[in-house]
Amino acid sequence: AVSPKIAPSMLSSDFANLAAEANRMIDLGANWLHMDIMDGHFVPNLTIGAPVIESLRKHTNAYLDCHLMVTNPMDYVEQMAKAGASGFTFHIEVAKENWQELVMKIKSAGMRPGVALKPGTPVEQVYPLVEGTTPVEMVLVMTVEPGFGGQKFMPSTMDKVRALRNKYPTLDIEVDGGLGPSTIDVAAAAGANCIVAGSSVFGATEPGEVISLLRTSVEK
Ligand code: DX5
Ligand code: ZN
Repeated sequence: AVSPKIAPSMLSSDFANLAAEANRMIDLGANWLHMDIMDGHFVPNLTIGAPVIESLRKHTNAYLDCHLMVTNPMDYVEQMAKAGASGFTFHIEVAKENWQELVMKIKSAGMRPGVALKPGTPVEQVYPLVEGTTPVEMVLVMTVEPGFGGQKFMPSTMDKVRALRNKYPTLDIEVDGGLGPSTIDVAAAAGANCIVAGSSVFGATEPGEVISLLRTSVEK
């Protein structure tokens, strides 16, 4: 029921050659492009925003899987939709009060809503969002502390993936952080089907082989 979505994290790409890097990933078999939006406040790092998404959109039709590590996700909905974002994943830690309004706004702006949780956030917090009348269509379980690429996968987060998969057999469950050939089997066995991979893909001599390997593991 759930199909694999392999999403290279463009955070690990050469930002000065973003369009070429993005299209290279799609040519190598990537399904989605994972775009890390950071505001220097929710996380101690600053990356890209809507203007860069808008520029990239002119060079690719690919699904842009946007992960908003920002304190005020509501402020980004309109600009991200206009820029051409496909998915809009916000963090539950900053949307406890207004997630219903936020999800509705994301949907009516034409994007696919997702919710993310940091490693320390209990999984129960996102159940109402999956079960609501206007449900999120993806849950992103962070497998590192958000903010930077190249960190070590935290196996302790797999309990959350398993709990979600047991409850929701057809839900898109994304994992993000430290995924690569040595960690994918654990994540796939737990039930993740959307796989973000930055340094393991961009750091490989044969990125296409890493993308295939990730897909094969999810299909098993
Ligand atoms: C981290 C970002 C990730 C990051 C993953 O805050 O959300 O998408 O780019 O990079 P790797 O795969 O290198 O851990
Ligand atoms: Zn991310």
